[in-house]
Amino acid sequence: MITWGISANSHDAGLAVFDNKKLVFASQSERFSRIKNDPNLDKNLIAYAKQWGDPDQVVWYENPIKKTLRQLRAGQGLKLKENNIKSYLSSYDINCNIKYVDHHASHAYGGWHTSKLDDTCIICIDAIGEFETFTIWDSTKKKLKKIYSQSYPHSIGLWYSAMTQRIGLKPNEDEYILMGMAAYGDPTRLFEDIINSFIHTHGMGVTPKVTIKKNLHRGCKDWRPDLKSEQDMFDIAAGTQAVYEYLLRYISTWAKQNSNHNNLIFMGGCALNCVANNILTRDWNNIWIMPNPGDSGSAIGCVLAHFNTRIKWDDTFLGYDIKGDYPIDKIIQELKDTGICGVANGKAEFGPRALGNRSLLADPRRLHIKDTVNKIKQRQKFRPFAPAILDEFFERHFEGPKSEYMQFTARCRNPDVYPAITHADNTSRVQSVRKNSNSGFRKLLEAWHKDTGCPMLLNTSLNIKGEPIVNTELDAKLFEEKYNIKVFT
Ligand SMILES: [Fe+2]
Repeated sequence: MITWGISANSHDAGLAVFDNKKLVFASQSERFSRIKNDPNLDKNLIAYAKQWGDPDQVVWYENPIKKTLRQLRAGQGLKLKENNIKSYLSSYDINCNIKYVDHHASHAYGGWHTSKLDDTCIICIDAIGEFETFTIWDSTKKKLKKIYSQSYPHSIGLWYSAMTQRIGLKPNEDEYILMGMAAYGDPTRLFEDIINSFIHTHGMGVTPKVTIKKNLHRGCKDWRPDLKSEQDMFDIAAGTQAVYEYLLRYISTWAKQNSNHNNLIFMGGCALNCVANNILTRDWNNIWIMPNPGDSGSAIGCVLAHFNTRIKWDDTFLGYDIKGDYPIDKIIQELKDTGICGVANGKAEFGPRALGNRSLLADPRRLHIKDTVNKIKQRQKFRPFAPAILDEFFERHFEGPKSEYMQFTARCRNPDVYPAITHADNTSRVQSVRKNSNSGFRKLLEAWHKDTGCPMLLNTSLNIKGEPIVNTELDAKLFEEKYNIKVFT
């Protein structure tokens, strides 16, 4: 029995394949179509997924009828044709039975059934699906129950995207850049102004309700038009991030007080905000965030909601497979010679972070390496890179929560020694690579450490700003030729 989970027809499409309830493949459409955040399915993705056989059933990640009603209420017109999923899938020659799961149920069950946590609270925060924008769930004795729900137009995710657009970035895509810019601004200058303009909370610990004062579906470009200098943009970013962190603390406080649990699962696009995620560690002993907690990850989540069964989660290497041994020796030699190279080997990561199988790697100790990598990646000069470190060396170099998937930030103990992987506030978004990881990347880090004494590498995704991460052998070759950086497969 082959089941496909699909999230598409909105933004950043994803497809997951389950063979008799075993997850065997998952990828974002963009990796195959080469269109960043491609909202639609792709014929090459479908052809690749069919190596496990044609689907016997499809599970769709949201409810198209509820979505149509919400769009109608939001004044976006009656989108009956656009939301006809049967006809949408049929245009890709997918004609099997379709099941539908509510948008936030896909997030909640996806987090719950990929975790190892029982008796847990689940918080889902995103921009918008059907009506719901923020839900809280309780899992006790293997039963999941929704205990709070908040609906459009009150959406924390939409507000954060509107602020992303306000500072000249792309909404639904560049939110992580706003998060990075925040470290260069003053978080207090506009905090109250932003709260007064947009946000109303109803009592810390009393209710998790967050009211958004304006309908932000079309952005907030008209907010404070007097703010236009470069430093103003950094201050808006810092104020926005500070307000978001305040809201997350407000929500987490209520959730903690109203559940008897010490475990938290956090899902939805907002769970990608690794800086704010640190706040959650104050309230919760164990936290699980699925490595792809946004809508493309719901390709997995909707199927898990439909089956209502837990899967054994090994890692997030679920995509296109470049077969062959991990090229450890070649990488180490190149890093010693030039300080930088790419690697594309094994199954691609499912989610926004490259974790060693589609990565651009560099020696973090080298002078000016940050500028060199930023130049190659055509990114803003201020943006730092993340380190990947052998798990057993984490505490020696960093202080803070440890994450296998770069979901939290930690204070770097030696920012002067590793400036390329340290942000302006002396924090790093660390990937801690565990001992029993069966990835070639762990073995590379071990060999690199043995050879140089350095237990970490700078690790960033193998792509250029605005382009999807390299997927296939051909993409790797094209990257190498175009940007004159060696990429080993
Ligand atoms: Fe979502």
